[in-house]
Amino acid sequence: MKTFQFLEYQTQKHTAVLTIVRPKQLNALNTITLKEIREALLQALSDTQIRVVIITGSGSKAFVAGADIKEFAHFNAKQGKELAEQGQTSIFDFIENYPKPIIAAINGFALGGGLELALASTVRIASSNAKFGLPEVGLGLIPGYGGTQRLPEIIGKGRALEMMLTADMIDASKALDYGLITEVTFSDKLLESAHLLADRMAKNSPSALTSVLKAVHYNSHRKDGYALEKDLFGACFDTSDFKEGVTAFLEGRKPKF
Ligand code: CAA
Repeated sequence: MKTFQFLEYQTQKHTAVLTIVRPKQLNALNTITLKEIREALLQALSDTQIRVVIITGSGSKAFVAGADIKEFAHFNAKQGKELAEQGQTSIFDFIENYPKPIIAAINGFALGGGLELALASTVRIASSNAKFGLPEVGLGLIPGYGGTQRLPEIIGKGRALEMMLTADMIDASKALDYGLITEVTFSDKLLESAHLLADRMAKNSPSALTSVLKAVHYNSHRKDGYALEKDLFGACFDTSDFKEGVTAFLEGRKPKF
């Protein structure tokens, strides 16, 4: 079995658990982590014993606090667009179209690319301390990993627009109310709950599960929206607002737009 730098891969019965392990960076998604998530998912795909995958974050503070801001702080528009294109194609679309169910077990902050990772997953459950948001506009950016398309699809346009335009976070009980997640548990019971949910899926016909996923996702590919998101995300990188937003984050102050 392959070992990873920022990911733990464990199996239990019919379930593979992928844990993102960058706790000091609140499990932020750098290039290597994204690549490793894809590799781990390919590994779980080729293992016929595995029927369901759980994705979670290490520690109790964060699921994933977003794309790694330090990695893209000096990007220009072209590099920004490539970041979105690469991420969407090789990870986020790949996750949505994955033939086995993927449960996001959200154990803390799910922000930006972290929430987008959860949105691309099949089902989302969370611990009661979880916080959800797409805070990109506070960085002079927009969501670039499919969030502008998937969040409205899951919770409705009005609520999604409020979250994206305010950059505010919502808590687990509001996320449950919005239908963003389907279950809230105590932190120490989150993985157990994820396994119970995985077992309820895994007892069914694997090929029928794949067909359900295929049928449900057939209509959810508004490619034009995803393509426009990539263009607009890239264009943000050439603005003075992006420079101010990212510099303010790195300096630990509020941005002045
Ligand atoms: N990228 C890189 N590093 C990050 C990070 C991120 N997204 N989020 C947190 N970190 C790092 C911090 O820089 C800090 O590192 P240092 O100790 O080296 O300074 C460490 O993780 C701990 O974070 P904080 O000290 O900020 O912890 P906090 O408890 O005060 O705040 C937080 C927690 C509210 C989640 C805050 O860290 C935060 O706002 N993070 C950024 C969230 C964000 O904006 N995410 C969107 C990223 S852009 C994106 O994802 C684009 C896309 O769609 C493709």
